[in-house]
Amino acid sequence: MCWIFAYVGETDSREKLVNGLKMLEYRGYDSAWMVGLTNSSEVFIEKAVGRVSALATKVASKSEDTKLYTTGIAHTRWATHGGVTEANTHPHVSTNERFYIVHNGIIENYKEIKASLESDHTFYSQTDTEVVAKLIESLYDGNLKSTMEKVAAKLVGAYSLAVIDRENPGTIVGIKLWSPLIVGEATDGIYISSDVNALAALAESYTILEDHEMIVIEDKKYSIFLAGEQVERASQEVEEGQKIDELWNFTSYTEKEIFDIPSVLENVWSGRINFETKEIKNETLDALAELDIDRICIISSGSSYYAGDIGGYFFRKFAGIPCQAIISSEFLADTFIPEKKTLYVFLSQSGETADVRESMKIVKAKGCMTFGIVNVVGSTIARMADYGLYSHAGVEVWVASTKNVIAQVWVLLMVAVALGKSRDMQISDVRDLIAELSELPDKISETLMQGPHIKKLAKKYSNYDDMFVLGRNYFYPVAGEASLKCKELSYIHCEAYSAGELKHGPLALVSPKFPTMVFNPMGKFYSKTVSNVQEVAAREGPILWFISKNDTHNELYTDTIELSETSELLSVFTGLVSSYLFALYLAEALWRDVDKPRNLAKSVTVE
Ligand code: G6P
Repeated sequence: MCWIFAYVGETDSREKLVNGLKMLEYRGYDSAWMVGLTNSSEVFIEKAVGRVSALATKVASKSEDTKLYTTGIAHTRWATHGGVTEANTHPHVSTNERFYIVHNGIIENYKEIKASLESDHTFYSQTDTEVVAKLIESLYDGNLKSTMEKVAAKLVGAYSLAVIDRENPGTIVGIKLWSPLIVGEATDGIYISSDVNALAALAESYTILEDHEMIVIEDKKYSIFLAGEQVERASQEVEEGQKIDELWNFTSYTEKEIFDIPSVLENVWSGRINFETKEIKNETLDALAELDIDRICIISSGSSYYAGDIGGYFFRKFAGIPCQAIISSEFLADTFIPEKKTLYVFLSQSGETADVRESMKIVKAKGCMTFGIVNVVGSTIARMADYGLYSHAGVEVWVASTKNVIAQVWVLLMVAVALGKSRDMQISDVRDLIAELSELPDKISETLMQGPHIKKLAKKYSNYDDMFVLGRNYFYPVAGEASLKCKELSYIHCEAYSAGELKHGPLALVSPKFPTMVFNPMGKFYSKTVSNVQEVAAREGPILWFISKNDTHNELYTDTIELSETSELLSVFTGLVSSYLFALYLAEALWRDVDKPRNLAKSVTVE
């Protein structure tokens, strides 16, 4: 899976391509490459296995090459097919070495196309992208635009593609279907990118291409076409919030994003909730409350799945609506029974995750109601949804999703209360809940201030190879998300279970070398969970408790992390935040690359 970036302008493209790739690197960082063209068709090619910084070093080492490569394309790769090797890190080029392409997505029918081209072309890789480069050569009719129309007609799958033609420097043609493609305008030239964030620091305005559209950049201008006809579309100005922020004094973006959470909450509830009048006010929420729905189905992946699962408890409790959270790849694998009175909710930070996008396509094809909760403005899933609310978490740069999960959970809670209000939830209960929630930023700030204590505990627990995380009710998915964060950041084997389920098998693993983390704030399930954990203590399993501040059963505990005061609901948020700090410090204690955990990518646009 590759993320693409391209530039045409007056000046040398190489540094711009490196900078663009650095901004896209969070989406994949296994390898990177670039091709530059001068106005007299000289070619510059560089590639590197590993981080974009390795490519940057190689490019910088060629500073004696002072030619102006004013047209360039580049990509950063997250390996899907083929290992992370020099051989698999190459620019994809036609046999006549005239057309170079970058591609994000999957060409599903590449084997058939390859078979039809094999008599005239020798293939150097197993990739679908190389097949497209050869197809362009074979269909070339003297005009790259009309050729790409013919190419697009042959491709099945998801793609965003940018092509340069060695015999026409200064021209780039791009096409897209399902995968994102954005064009940015700047004083120094025109850019193409897989996301807005990568453009935000370089371009002044941008335009998001729709499916089946084509972009043609030539003569220092760009035009968008649909089915051969030019499309007029006003560009949007890049906003400050779309730019990737500085790291300031934080040691990683992951840490910074966790510490951003109190301010993120203000963005999330702005224009949606009024703490003075204790009212939820929002057009989309009002529209949702009017819908005739009797069931909710939440479809998402990774951290967004756990946020959705927490949301399920909210819908059942506050709105009295049956709700099921489903992992999107499992939704795709299962039989879909469309229900007209079900609201299908799609959660995605990036708005581009293929499993979620493909699930949404299936639901939409059956005419069912879709609602998207997405962070990246203008992303595919956001644009496909019938109804939508942005999670407004700001740019989330590196792999582990943190502040966006908090924002998603918050939005789900608001939707649940808005639906509850239009059903059986008492207005006085709504007002009490809003009053309670107004304390959240302070509670999260208190949690963040526990950083040094959590760091000390993380150091101690970093000595273990395995861990359980337990929770009940809301805290079961909170435990799931905590365990995902520990795994992805620290690489410690960590499994989440419902507290009541441990005794049904997993307890067999508990020993003095196998600790258990437990979310157990004061509330309805407190005593039951204590009993479950006593089963762990009886087997001498070390226990790290996440408890309420006023929990008086001190004699039970060895290691503790305090959540907020008594509220179970606020403890969902503070529980997540404290688990994020714990996972971060666990990873730091083990000297992991926190922002770029091995094998992972921020946004996965393949199924
Ligand atoms: C990837 C990331 C996860 C993320 C998941 C879903 O696997 O590594 O951190 O939770 O995708 O992403 P989404 O953008 O759909 O929320």
